[in-house]
Amino acid sequence: MLATDATPFASEIRRRRTFAIISHPDAGKTTLTEKLLLYGGAIRLAGSVKARRAARHATSDWMEIEKQRGISVTSSVMQFEYDGCMVNILDTPGHQDFSEDTYRTLEAADSAVMLIDAAKGVEPQTIKLFHVCKMRGIPIFTFVNKLDREGKDPFALMQEIEDVLGMRTCPMNWPVGMGASFKGVFDRQKGHVELFDNRDHGQTKARTQTSGVDDPALADIIGPDLHQKLQEDIELLDVAGDPWDFDRFRRGDLSPLFWGSALTNFGVQPFLEYFLKLAPSPAPRLAGDRLVDPEEPRFSAFVFKIQANMNPAHRDRIAFLRIVSGRFERGMEVQHVRLGKKVRLSQPQQFMAQERQIVEEAYAGDIIGLFDPGVFRIGDTLCTGEAIQFEGIPSFSPEHFARVRFKDAMKSKHFRKGLDELTEEGAIQVFYATQPGNPDPILGAVGELQFDVFQYRMKNEYGVDVILDRLPYEVARWVEGEGYQPRRFWGTDNLAVTDRDGRNVLLFRNESSMRYVIQQNENLTFRATAPVK
Ligand code: G4P
Repeated sequence: MLATDATPFASEIRRRRTFAIISHPDAGKTTLTEKLLLYGGAIRLAGSVKARRAARHATSDWMEIEKQRGISVTSSVMQFEYDGCMVNILDTPGHQDFSEDTYRTLEAADSAVMLIDAAKGVEPQTIKLFHVCKMRGIPIFTFVNKLDREGKDPFALMQEIEDVLGMRTCPMNWPVGMGASFKGVFDRQKGHVELFDNRDHGQTKARTQTSGVDDPALADIIGPDLHQKLQEDIELLDVAGDPWDFDRFRRGDLSPLFWGSALTNFGVQPFLEYFLKLAPSPAPRLAGDRLVDPEEPRFSAFVFKIQANMNPAHRDRIAFLRIVSGRFERGMEVQHVRLGKKVRLSQPQQFMAQERQIVEEAYAGDIIGLFDPGVFRIGDTLCTGEAIQFEGIPSFSPEHFARVRFKDAMKSKHFRKGLDELTEEGAIQVFYATQPGNPDPILGAVGELQFDVFQYRMKNEYGVDVILDRLPYEVARWVEGEGYQPRRFWGTDNLAVTDRDGRNVLLFRNESSMRYVIQQNENLTFRATAPVK
């Protein structure tokens, strides 16, 4: 439990845990989220998140494209209370809707849970998201899932995490068997085994029996072979593994490692309990040269995501805000720092698996959505008291590129407007080639779906038919350095461009052509994210 505080305000903030789950599609993120909500009492029967997702498609009045593709283009936050803590799970879009929003959502998280499929190990999308977390220096928990199925050897998985991600792990518990012979996990702190019991196939909270590792009865339950292996494994971990180190964890250098099976609920509750103990409460954030403390009485927040057209009937945009300090009250008046004017926050929303509800109050660490009549941009600061400006949110390297042109020459003004507004929302980036030749703008997106969304919205919102010609580049780097001459890079393997703010960027066909250019140009700095303005 958390220490009680003299002011109810501070204790509200300290009890908040705001995190995101990072994983590759199919590792079990939806399932784990559901199970966490189940333990938090937010849903009674697991399966509701998915069921709701399915039901929504039948009645959806959201973007047509969502219906057509049968996927969600939006993301939300889920809040529940557990053991005195207020937990906010930020949903990171995955699958085909993987986009820059997925990366930006991590800007609003104070910690991350990296979910790994025991059979597949560390997969590409996890690696990308891991690097964003690393860049922010937030603590990362690791949960290895699907132990009820045959997977890789646990020691080999630990090694893989270290080799691929360069991060050490410290197992908080350890699996006893796997797949058909999965018997449970040994809790290294408590010194006992929690036995796996899958009588109702994950529909309700898991029942666990516990037993000490030296308990002779344990050998009878799990069998002498597994018992001996467990004793050997634990000895090896104690002798050769990294000891638990809270400071290394907080810096993101050491990840507490958990094992379980989200589908059968196994290992979810112990994970949640450790998570709440170890995960940081809302972190301070840099504004200019000072850190804004979450417990400062003044309200402050920044916009990390803008979602358009959630409801086409109303043509609305929602700006998602992460509260950095203080307390939010419905109807309060705050400064919109970039515009230098006051705005009233009268219709704040909170999202629970896509269902909206009006928020009356919220605290540092919470996420709220605001109706946006077109006044917000990603990275905007809202605050009371003296004006401050939080550090902006970087643009991330797109992985797909396409030239864009429009069919009807009369639509040039609409095209410009659409391009400006949609790039401002941040779902897509725009670049312009520096070399002579084709002057058409180049779009860059982290996920391919964004091109379809762009095309669809240009037509439906701006009345412009656009044609996209895909380009063979896969990676972008923002280039800085006195001696940079775009002309030197005019070739077939790279494309020298500028972004919408005139910064120099090089597009590369692939990682290896990028590495070659970087090696050959040690005098230049190549960045994977756009320097924040
Ligand atoms: P995602 O959000 O990360 O993409 O993954 P999701 O939870 O949708 O899970 C992907 C698949 O993996 C699902 O199976 C899910 O049931 C399964 N899964 C999740 N956790 C576990 C686990 O602990 N053990 C096992 N054996 N499977 C797990 P599916 O067949 O694709 O979907 P569904 O028919 O179950 O909905």
